[in-house]
This record gives sequence, C-alpha cells and structure tokens, in this order.
Amino acid sequence: MALDPWGSSTVDDYRKLFEEFGIEVFDDVLPRVPSPHYLMRRGVIFGHRDYRPVAEAMRKDEPFAALSGFMPTGDPHIGHKLVFDELIWHQQRGGEAYGLIADLEAHAARGLSWDEIDEHTESYLLSLIALGFDPGAGTLYRQSSNREVQDLAFELGTKANFSELGAIYDFDGETDVSYMQSVLTQMADILYPQLEEPKPTVIPVGPDQDPHVRLARDLAGRMRYFGVTEAYASFELDDDERELVAVAYEALVDDSDPETDVRCTEAAEWLRSERPPSEALDSAIETLEAGGKEPLRPRVRFLDRNATDEAFEGLIEAIEGEKRVYEAHVDSFDLGREAAEELAREVELEYGGYGFLPPSSIYHRFMTGLTGGKMSSSVPASHISLLDDPEDGYDKVKSATTGGRETAEKQRELGGEADDCPVYELYAYLLSGDDDEFATEVYDECVGGERLCGGCKEQAAELMAEFLEEHQEKREEARELLEDLDIDLESDRNR
Ligand code: TRP
Ligand code: SF4
Repeated sequence: MALDPWGSSTVDDYRKLFEEFGIEVFDDVLPRVPSPHYLMRRGVIFGHRDYRPVAEAMRKDEPFAALSGFMPTGDPHIGHKLVFDELIWHQQRGGEAYGLIADLEAHAARGLSWDEIDEHTESYLLSLIALGFDPGAGTLYRQSSNREVQDLAFELGTKANFSELGAIYDFDGETDVSYMQSVLTQMADILYPQLEEPKPTVIPVGPDQDPHVRLARDLAGRMRYFGVTEAYASFELDDDERELVAVAYEALVDDSDPETDVRCTEAAEWLRSERPPSEALDSAIETLEAGGKEPLRPRVRFLDRNATDEAFEGLIEAIEGEKRVYEAHVDSFDLGREAAEELAREVELEYGGYGFLPPSSIYHRFMTGLTGGKMSSSVPASHISLLDDPEDGYDKVKSATTGGRETAEKQRELGGEADDCPVYELYAYLLSGDDDEFATEVYDECVGGERLCGGCKEQAAELMAEFLEEHQEKREEARELLEDLDIDLESDRNR
C-alpha cells in the first residue's frame, strides 16, 4: 500500500496506516484535548502525528497554530468542510489559523489554467469564511502571492535532493521541475506559521497528505543549527548501541563511590558476557574496545549541524556547568536532555535560525461517496458541493446508496448497517453537528431496526438542503469580508 498525495484518495484499511506508516491512534491523545471537536469524538479524526504538543499548548493557553491548504481544482465540497471545520475549531481554541490556496500546486501538478484557479480560489475562501473562519484573526493566502513562503521553499530546497523526492513521490526524469517545486512550496506552507517564532503547529489533512507531513518534519529538523543527543563517551553511537552501553553503564556504575570510573573496556567485557549476540552488540563492543580506558560518563551532546561559527561559539558560552568542546560538537555533563533542547533552540533563534519544531498533523477519514465507492470531485453524484442548489443536494441524498436491507421486513428484523452507510456518514460527519445525542439516536435506531431508509434519507435530505441554503446565504455575506482582505483574486499570471 502506498500513500499518494496525487492519487485517488481512498484508504482501504486504516489499521495499516498505523502499522506501516507509524501514524498514531487519535483516541490515545483524545483525553488530553480540552472539549474535543465532534469529529474527534466520533472517530472521524482517527489518527495523528505528534498532536500532544498542540493539545498541551491549547490547555496551557500557549501559542500554537493550525494550517491547511486547498488545491483550487473544483468547487469546495462537503469533504473539504471537514478541514474547514478543523481549522475554525483550532482558531476558536486560541490558535493562529492559516488557510491557504495551493494555486501553484494546482497549476504545476494538475495543469489548471490561472483563470480556472482564480474562480475556484474565491469559492474556497468564501466557504471557509462562511463556516466561521475569522479572517481578521487568522491568515488566508495564495501560494502564488506569498513571497515569504516562496523564499522559505527555496531555502528548504537546499535540504532536499532529487533522489529523495523521487523516492517519496515517485518522481522521475520526466517530472516537471515546477511540480517538484510545488512540493517544496507545501513544505514552506507547513512551516510558515513558525517563521516569526517556533510554535506547535497542527496540519489537519487527509491521510493521503502524510508523506508531505513526514517530509516537512524531516526538513524542520534538517534546518536546525544543532542536534541534541545523549552520549556516554567522546565517540558517537547509534540508538541501538547507545541503549546497550546505557545498560552496561547502569550495571557497572557504583553510585556509592563516584570516584571509581567505568572504563570502556570493562563495559565491552560486561556486554560480551551478559548480553545475547546481535549486530548492535558486536559494533558496540568494537567501539567500546577502541575507546580503551576512557571512562564512561553520561552526557548530552550538541552536534553542530548548520550553525554559523558565531552561533557555535555562542552555544559553547551559553552552556553552564562542566562541558567539553570538540570540533563539531560540545558535550555537557550537567544539563538534562530537555534543558539542552531548549538551550539549543534559544541559541539558534538568537543567532538568526528558525528553530523549527517538527509540525504535527491530524488525519480524518475520507467520506464515502453517496453512490458508494469513493467520493470524487469528478463524479458529481458522488459528492455534494457546497455550491449545489439545495434541491440538488436534497435529490442527491435521496438517491444515495444506503446500508439498508433488501426489504423493510428484513430491516426491522436485522437492523440496518449504519457502519457501511453513506447516509449515516452524512449524519455523523455533518448533519448532526455538535449534537452527539442525535447522531447516536440515528445510529441506534438504524441498527436496532426501528429506522427505515426511506424516512431516514428524507430526514437527511431535508437537513442537507437546509444546511446548503444557510451556507450559501453566509457565503454571500462573506463576500464583503473577502473583498476587504488583501488577497488578489485575479492573478496577473498567464496561461
Ligand atoms: N497538497 C494539498 C492538496 O493536495 C494542498 C496543500 C498545499 C496543503 N499546501 C498545504 C495541505 C499545506 C496542507 C498543508 O490538497
Ligand atoms: Fe443508512 Fe439510515 Fe438506512 Fe440506517 S436507516 S442504513 S442510517 S439510510
């Protein structure tokens, strides 16, 4: 299975996302989120990367940001509404919120003309504002007119090469250069909220965007001036080796007598006799033996990655307590890991670096198409556009596939299959809004056989028509707000 940002966006098996890609289960952080959004409570938001720092900032009233982007390739539809709602919710919780129009990506990766892009750009922004995004408090921008984003993209490009992009995105010798550039632009989008100062940032997206999130997290790290690791002696160890050396050190150290040292060779001997053979064991022993009589002492190590000479000097000076300076690293014997991380970021910022925190993400399930299968912008009957006439929305719901049984009799007997019903999804993802009781009632009545599809769809269709009507009124009101913003809705680009 592959996650492809430009492929068809269905996910057959969400479990695989956890196992193969290391996406974390959202329910695990849910208790840390103050008054979670209904999409979180109902498992629509099912996964995340590193959301804890964002939840923590929210709880402590510290700065955080939420950012997502939209390719203006068609009309915004109810699938996009999930992401709009997620941004708005984070904004209402005190986060800086960013909504961007990925017009460079739409042009380069999808080949849309600038006229088409302009038309859809306005439409996405109107819906986002109509749903509650406060453009005065938040930031809306188009990639094509954000110079800072483009400059940052250029810088980030110094930390990524063609082989890497090729491996992640299946690019090859035929891939347009602008297409590749649009990836760097997205990386810059994702880090943009941290340009002024580092802060926890969440990117709400579908899981198809996870490759982008992972790359952005890597690039954020590669831009850092200093790396911080833990070490036991002057030499470097990889994670597995370090773990073994830590065990040996703990076994041999005599806390009651701080004067006696644990020598490298002693630790090597201990490992050889006490631990089962493995590759890491062999290399750890080899390294320790080369270390000879050097005593093992736990320390944190600052590695010079991208620092200027001044910044490296500045860091050395800023480290309090016992330290040892090497050519491209400094060891500190009195700092803990966390304090060291903090200091590294402080010094970086002081000397003109970004000090990026790795961005976090949350992932929502894709809605099933109303006709079954995937919801696709190119199949009008499969989705409901936020611009659909309320009557059309009504009709689409009425003719949607359901999880119902062949006959009413069977339905009463066995109950409907709400878990496989696109209409139930509409209730859970949208029509019930914040009202959990209502969503649960629909579900229970369905699986209990009390609810029949005809009436259920009628109710959903009416709610959908109401929603569309109201939303479209609000879009009209949003026009004024949008006009007051400093966003160019007519690009002066050609083609
Ligand atoms: N690539 C995203 C899409 O296909 C759009 C996008 C551009 C984006 N920049 C972003 C999404 C930053 C999230 C964050 O729709
Ligand atoms: Fe779906 Fe409603 Fe039918 Fe249940 S009763 S299967 S929720 S349409």
